[in-house]
Amino acid sequence: MERIPIFVFISGTGKTLEAIINSCKVACVQGVYSSDPTAPGLQYAVDNNIRSLSAHNKSVLTDLKAMISHLGKPKIIVLAGYMKILPIDFIDYCYDNDIILVNTHPSLLPKHRGLNTHQRALDAGDTIHGFTIHLVTEILDHGPIIAQESFNVCDGDTATMLENAVKIRERIKYPMIIDSIAIS
Ligand code: GRF
Repeated sequence: MERIPIFVFISGTGKTLEAIINSCKVACVQGVYSSDPTAPGLQYAVDNNIRSLSAHNKSVLTDLKAMISHLGKPKIIVLAGYMKILPIDFIDYCYDNDIILVNTHPSLLPKHRGLNTHQRALDAGDTIHGFTIHLVTEILDHGPIIAQESFNVCDGDTATMLENAVKIRERIKYPMIIDSIAIS
């Protein structure tokens, strides 16, 4: 079966990117974009012979168009720890061109949009925590939900423990969901 091209957007470690590259069977990472030229995840792309670009135009849309002109149009743009807010012109461009935008957010949306989700879950006394894979819209962490996975919060859990518990699960589930979107 012909693999379906996707781009992955990162800002940090690229551990989620690594899981996507290694676990997706249908989707194929054709390009990686980083908001931060020093993001360690960029090196992982290079090591896997995947073309990458870090933000160098003022506009992420200009960068996306440059990627598309070199690599072709992806079916999906996957946000994997991408920490910048995407502007509306970028989101409109994607949907106008049949590019699906998907994100994983480390909370059980609609709870805890934005940052510091693990500590906020603890502060709120949540007894379950998890992550949400959703379509990206112009409202931050607000798009239609595709999948969620949850686990119990135990006495004594710290924000770091919750973060690790989320990441372990995301790295299994996100590639599966990306493949199911790619095949649809
Ligand atoms: C994930 O936990 C995701 O929910 C959040 O960033 C993390 C991925 O970043 N948005 P990385 O792959 O560890 O850099």
